[in-house]
Amino acid sequence: MSNTEILVKELTEKYGKNRDSLLPVLQGIVEKESYLSEEAMISIAKELDLSAAEVYGTASFYTFLDTIPRGKNIIRVCKTITCHMKGKDEIIKTLEKLLNIKVGETTHDNEFTLLTANCLGWCHKGPVMLVNNEVYPELTPDKAVEIINSYIKTTK
Ligand code: FES
Repeated sequence: MSNTEILVKELTEKYGKNRDSLLPVLQGIVEKESYLSEEAMISIAKELDLSAAEVYGTASFYTFLDTIPRGKNIIRVCKTITCHMKGKDEIIKTLEKLLNIKVGETTHDNEFTLLTANCLGWCHKGPVMLVNNEVYPELTPDKAVEIINSYIKTTK
């Protein structure tokens, strides 16, 4: 049995083998493996006695359930109007240069994925980014670099 299959088994035992446990099981996988692999979805379908299509459908409906591999740290820069007006483009450009990737991509060492997000509810302190679950408001390009560098140090 692969690690993913073992994890699926653990989660379905924890949340129950019924349709209602689909979402918590999917979330549990993303938490541990940082994305939903095809293998995970197939094995969930088997365990919960659902069709694979049903599992895919649910996973793609909830956009926070990533179905492509992501880095260890996920950066989400707010792209909504207030942050846009306060200079989010400059922040994104700076991060792309620093990490040598474009939005939507993951660094080669799998440390960082750079994404954009809709309004994070911090408009009064824009531009804002989220690194994993941490909010970083009032960004400047220099501040953004400093923040990401602190992650590089702590994750190495
Ligand atoms: Fe960026 Fe609201 S517009 S946090």
